Parts: sequence; structure tokens; C-alpha cells
Amino acid sequence: MKRVLGIETSCDETAAAVVRGRRVESDVVHSQVALHAPYGGVVPELASRDHLRNIRPVIEAALSRAGCSLADIDGIAVTCRPGLSGALLVGMQTAQGLAWAAHKPIVGVDHLIGHLLAVFLEFDTAQAQSPEFPFIGLLASGGHSALYKVSGPLASNIEELGATRDDAAGEAFDKVAKLLGLGYPGGPIIDKLAAQGDPEKVILSKPMPQKSALEFSFSGLKTNVLRWVTKHGRPGDDQTLRDLCASFQRRVVDALLDKALIAAKQADIGRLVIAGGVAANRELRTRGAERAAAQGLEFIIPPFRACTDNAAMIAYAGAMRLERGEDDSGRLEMSPHTLLPTVTRKGRGRRPAPGTQSSSA
Ligand code: KG4
Ligand code: ZN
Repeated sequence: MKRVLGIETSCDETAAAVVRGRRVESDVVHSQVALHAPYGGVVPELASRDHLRNIRPVIEAALSRAGCSLADIDGIAVTCRPGLSGALLVGMQTAQGLAWAAHKPIVGVDHLIGHLLAVFLEFDTAQAQSPEFPFIGLLASGGHSALYKVSGPLASNIEELGATRDDAAGEAFDKVAKLLGLGYPGGPIIDKLAAQGDPEKVILSKPMPQKSALEFSFSGLKTNVLRWVTKHGRPGDDQTLRDLCASFQRRVVDALLDKALIAAKQADIGRLVIAGGVAANRELRTRGAERAAAQGLEFIIPPFRACTDNAAMIAYAGAMRLERGEDDSGRLEMSPHTLLPTVTRKGRGRRPAPGTQSSSA
């Protein structure tokens, strides 16, 4: 069982972790939330600079909390895609320097694969569940929202079934929170307010209701909230605000679950795993458990800290490659795009099947 140092800097979290097998020995996350909050979103240049400032203390803390030094590590895993180029490079350069100096193998990890495998992590506080392959992975984060058939831990085992045509689910939470003047990131704030609201009081449109398409679209819902605010005015800190948040959240949660449940049925897979920052949403967790049970599905929810960005999931995904003797030393490449083939094109829906011509393309 390999002991792996994971490093993650793809967006606005500087993170490092030591994982042995499934066991998380340390998990350090330095969040840049306060830095980006005044702008209502991540500012790439500020993110890179802050990663540079924090990467060294974060890695040192991860090693010391795990009670080990670089010499005790079997390999290094670092996020190399998708993400902000400048931010990714900070983690990758650091990881490569450490691997070279300590004579350790290094592997690049796709951030989305990290999210999809986060459910396997064993933290101190939580009893880990271990789903068996294959499962349907519903990944909903600030940058991505997609459904996957996950048949194993490697990129070649993961197939995208459908993704969002426009905004990611977390992005929709963040944008709606911004237009309601609630602060950043919007997901946890709306989650809290929605818990005290009535989702039936404010009527909002249903995103992508077409039953068969496994794609999402959240920009219409966002515009719907904007129109509501233009017509009725921005609610103050009152019950109307809570009802509006509850209605918006219910729409997002049901859109995600509707499609995930259809995907499980279509693929004839009995397990559904949720992943990514939006998987921390309490309504998605409880409603998902109810709706999956009603369809006879096993519903597997990672612990809260495994949902949002962290380096333990990167270490675990990297360990799957290191265990097979893989090593990217000298040929690690950064990319803003995921390695996983995509079937949905942002703004244009589903890609035509190979060999066919799409009239809209
Ligand atoms: O996975 P993540 O930490 O970073 C990305 O890879 O994007 O996800 C961050 C996203 C943000 O958009 C944030 O608003 C959302 O996850 N989020 C939530 C909750 N906690 C975080 N959305 C809904 N409910 C939450 N409790
Ligand atoms: Zn993420």
C-alpha cells in the first residue's frame, strides 16, 4: 500500500495531504475564499500568487501532521488538469521539484477523477463507505457538472454520460448568491437560508426538463431568478429571501437528481455516488438519499470534507496510478481541460455521434 503526498492548486484552494491506501493521514487546505470574496468569484492572477505564498507551509504541515518526511513517501500526486493554468503550474512546479530532489515517482491527476474517487477516502471522523464499481458518479462543483459511468479508478474506466450545456451547478449557486447580494461562495450561504424557506412559495422554471437528455442547463434558472428580482426587487434579510433560496435550491437539486436517476436506470447500474463541492449541499444529500431509495438504488455520500476541493482525493487517485508502476517524471503536462472525453459541448449540447454530421455544428 503506497503512501502518497497529494498536492492540489487547480483553483482557489492550496491543499496538500498524505494518504496511505484509503486512509487519510493528513489533509491540509488553505482556502482563498476571503481573498476572492470582494470580487464575487475567483481572480486567476490573485489565485496564482496566493498559491505561491502558501504552497510550502501547506506541504510542510501535511507532512508533519502525518508524522513523516518526504523520505517516507512512496510517490507524489499532483493535479495537472483541469483548472486555472497559472494556479495549476504552482502545484506542478513544486511537486516536480520535490520529486526530483527526493528521487520519488510523480504522477499527474485529473481533478475530476479526484472528485469521483473521493468517496473512497477514510477520514478519522467518518466511517467510509466503499462503493463497488461500476457506479454512476454525479459530479457537481463550481467548475463542472456532469454524470459519469465509473467502472474503475483510472481515466480509461470513466465515461461521461452528459454534462452541463452552460453553467455548472456550483457556478449557478455562486451567481445567484451574487445577484442576491449574499456573498461568496454562494452554495453554503444559500444552503443555510434555504433550510428555513418554503420551496413552493416562489415559482421558478425547471432546468432542462427533457426526460431523455442526460444534460444539465442552469443559466435559464439563473436568468429566472434575475427576472424575479427585477420584478419584485431584491429581498432583504427576510422570509421571502429564504423562500426564494429554497425554491432555487430545490430546482437545482431536483435537476441534478432527475438526470442522475435516469442515468442509473439507462445504464442499469444500482449505485449512485455524489461528488464535488455541491455534494456538500444538505438538501442534495437528504433528498438524494430519499429519491435513490425510492428507485431501489444504493446512494453513497462522501463526508463533507471530501466533497469540496482537497488534496487527499488527488493523493488517492494518484496512488491508483502509482500502484501500477506509472510515473510521469519528465513528461508531466498541464492542461486547462479534463482528460475525460466529453459528450456535451458547452453552449451547444450533445456532440454528434462519430461519422454523423450535425446541422447545428
Ligand atoms: O469542488 P469545489 O470545492 O471546487 C471546484 O472544483 O469547483 O466546489 C466549489 C463549489 C462552489 O460553487 C460552491 O458554491 C459550491 O461548490 N458549494 C455548495 C455547497 N458548498 C460548496 N453548493 C451548494 N451547497 C453547499 N453546501
Ligand atoms: Zn473541485
